[in-house]
Amino acid sequence: MNEAILQMRQITKSFSANKVLRGIDLEAYKGEVLALIGANGAGKSTMMNILCGIYQEDGGEILIDGKPVKFKHPTEAIERGIAFVQQEMALMPTMSIVDNLYLNNFQTKGGLIDYKKSKRKCVEVLKKLGCNYSPDTLVGSLGAGDRQLVQISRALLSNPQIIIFDEATSSLTLPEKERLFKVIEQLRRENVAIIYITHMMDEIFTICQRVMVLRGGITAGKDLVSNVTHADLVQMMIGDKVKELTEKNSKSAAVSKEAPVVMKVEHLTRKGVVDDISFEIHEGEVVGLWGLMGAGRTETVRCITGLDPIDEGTIYIPDRDAQLKQVSPKKMIGNVAIVTEDRRVDGLALEMSVKDNMTSANLKNLTGRIPGFIDKKKELDVCETYIRRLETKVANLNQPISTLSGGNQQKVILGRWLQKKLKIFILDEPTRGLDIGAKADVMKVIRELSEKGTAVLVIMSDIDELMSVSQRYLVMHNGRLVQELPGGATQTELMAAALQ
Ligand SMILES: Nc1ncnc2c1ncn2[C@@H]1O[C@H](COP(=O)(O)OP(=O)(O)OP(=O)(O)O)[C@@H](O)[C@H]1O
Ligand SMILES: [Mg+2]
Repeated sequence: MNEAILQMRQITKSFSANKVLRGIDLEAYKGEVLALIGANGAGKSTMMNILCGIYQEDGGEILIDGKPVKFKHPTEAIERGIAFVQQEMALMPTMSIVDNLYLNNFQTKGGLIDYKKSKRKCVEVLKKLGCNYSPDTLVGSLGAGDRQLVQISRALLSNPQIIIFDEATSSLTLPEKERLFKVIEQLRRENVAIIYITHMMDEIFTICQRVMVLRGGITAGKDLVSNVTHADLVQMMIGDKVKELTEKNSKSAAVSKEAPVVMKVEHLTRKGVVDDISFEIHEGEVVGLWGLMGAGRTETVRCITGLDPIDEGTIYIPDRDAQLKQVSPKKMIGNVAIVTEDRRVDGLALEMSVKDNMTSANLKNLTGRIPGFIDKKKELDVCETYIRRLETKVANLNQPISTLSGGNQQKVILGRWLQKKLKIFILDEPTRGLDIGAKADVMKVIRELSEKGTAVLVIMSDIDELMSVSQRYLVMHNGRLVQELPGGATQTELMAAALQ
């Protein structure tokens, strides 16, 4: 029988009064992929942070190859053969790929940094993941998917015995994901033990042999993947909420073309990125911006909202008298809510509190009778309302947002924009990192926005999710808008349009 290379026994951990892990046993085996799953805030990342010496456990013990270990620092875990691809991007955007890969750990020759050798190894590891960019490329110039791959290559450099992927695929394209799966399969054959955290249920059945479910800091189940169904796992993760979820999946009726236009884009062009994009969106309409990764969807919304400069194009929104007026992309930020794909870069101020992150887009509406001063009670009320609405798991509003689980950070961003009564919402991968319960909540929020007359332009790479809310589709390919499809379009039609 295969020996467990890793045993974590009766692990407990609290943050102040918040008991996050309540005695968890976890085993991982050589040559196997263990799926570690559970709702947002269940304790998955905390468990792995303890394994990797980032946090110290309050109680319990860790054994590797049957011998107790205690890591006081992440480098000790790395030296013992454990690599961690973390959920949140932990790279330096102003540094090159090779510098990020090695940071303080360069290949040396006679005590000096051997830059050539470092670069060679860097290229080698990147190739394994099918990436061909130069090691000198600045990490900041890479998209979310490429940055994720750089993180993964960094983990592979140390030839680990145990490797942890914490939501590693959440920003990868389909081909990138398939490449990663091949690498994982290869590592598995080389007898590496892999712990794989994900919210994508189908991935569990594709690459994992065992599964462990956490729920609120306890073990809700453990089994061989071949013994469980999708429904079993959902049941273990969220218990009695299952029925409610399946009921929520209907989309609102299509909006008539007569409804007033709330945004009109004409000939939007950013050379080499997006080319001559024109479309309009009506009041109360949910428009799915569909396409494969690299088609230019994120780039389009970044151009519309002034996050990236444009070379050509005009954007119109209605003025006070409901007449369409031209507006510069930079001014759009005050008129649209924008949730971006990469919360680490565009979305959150990590050192700030949950409260400040939630209200930062809305300070104007929170001033009290004395101009310029925030009405503290109003601020608290607003935060609490939106925290409840999305069932965000926070211990208190003053905790730094970096101490929230990944999925709950995403909910704070959404809550921030929901408080503003804006006519247009642009959502780029709003369900990224959310568990299935929270995903259903976001879908519900989108439908509610639409019913209240807000227009929503949404990008979601999961086609089923996108299809569950969109009333019309704009399909992109290679930086261009290539087709418009009605809400009733089939999955095959959408795929065909995106592939062109
Ligand atoms: N440094 C910290 N300080 C305070 N609380 C923390 C800290 N790190 C994690 N927590 C809390 O521990 C709980 C579990 O968080 P964890 O990140 O382990 O969840 P998760 O299962 O990884 O969720 P997700 O799927 O959203 O990533 C959450 O309630 C979170 O707020
Ligand atoms: Mg997590």
